[in-house]
Amino acid sequence: MDNEGTQEEMQAVFGEVLELCGVNPEQKVAVLSEGEILQERSEAFLRATEKLGAETVRVNVAASSNAGAEARIADLGTSALSSDASAMKVLKEADLVIDLMLLLFSHEQLEMQAAGTRILLVVEPFDILKRLLPTRAMRARVEAGERRMQAAKTLRFTNDAGTDVRYELKQFGGTSSHGVLTEYGYTDTPGRWDHWPSGFLASVGTTDGVEGRVVMDAGDIVLPWKEFIQTPIEMTIQDGMVTEIAGAEDADKLRSYIEGFEDPRAYGLSHIGWGLNEDAKWEVDVSGIAQDSRAYCGNVLFSTGPNIEFGGDNDTACHLDLPMKNCSLWLDDELIVNRGEVIPEDMRPQT
Ligand SMILES: [Fe+2]
Repeated sequence: MDNEGTQEEMQAVFGEVLELCGVNPEQKVAVLSEGEILQERSEAFLRATEKLGAETVRVNVAASSNAGAEARIADLGTSALSSDASAMKVLKEADLVIDLMLLLFSHEQLEMQAAGTRILLVVEPFDILKRLLPTRAMRARVEAGERRMQAAKTLRFTNDAGTDVRYELKQFGGTSSHGVLTEYGYTDTPGRWDHWPSGFLASVGTTDGVEGRVVMDAGDIVLPWKEFIQTPIEMTIQDGMVTEIAGAEDADKLRSYIEGFEDPRAYGLSHIGWGLNEDAKWEVDVSGIAQDSRAYCGNVLFSTGPNIEFGGDNDTACHLDLPMKNCSLWLDDELIVNRGEVIPEDMRPQT
């Protein structure tokens, strides 16, 4: 990756985040990479871990055809790790795995978490990692959202383009905490996954408890394509499934993309939540996986596809993250986001 930092710079920044992760001399940290990808980063994490006195282990698996974060996020769930029992044994024995290959929505990730291993995904370019360094203050704001989400029975969100959709919450738990997935960019909790950079939270609806329609407006984003849409896309949702996709060119493109997976479960719904990171940018012309737009403060992140991180059984490879601007979102009757602005004081950016 051409925008990595120097070894010295990466080791310093990674050391800060490893400290937030509670790495100390009693712990074992595995750095997991794939083929030749991100090897300088792997080295920097290993050296930074050693400086904290922790035991280190480098785990490098063969690159598969969907290797690299940008390819894998469009084709989730499988990797060389799926058939590498000895690598899995080492990873499950670690306290912390630094994931440089992107195991999200894989069975291997769930297996490690079940063994008590915490995981930090770190695949964005170094300049983005530096700009969006995790903080304890962001964690507090994300956890303020988590408490509200855990207490809520329903989530509804709307926008001026015609979105009005209602989620019944709380059927699953999975590896998320009481059905809520928090992401604040570091993890010091056994068995917990996080992603640096972040600053958002999400839950899922019950299997058949999502009804309404989502209308993405021009200027909203489709990931993993990393594209702003030019024309609205209207998705009808019945019994927790996308049943119709209507609109112009962008809708046609989205419809054929999902059809290409030839998997009826690709029409399922994945997570729903909102972003809290005021340093994240609303842009798509970036290298990496555009994590900025997922964490963008006051967005609503609507998504389709797999739900196994939340204890569901949909492990389809087709996962779309669809960040939307200028939406309003309620948990039960409490207004959480008003036309793109986060309302509760304990979740708002600090001035
Ligand atoms: Fe997602």
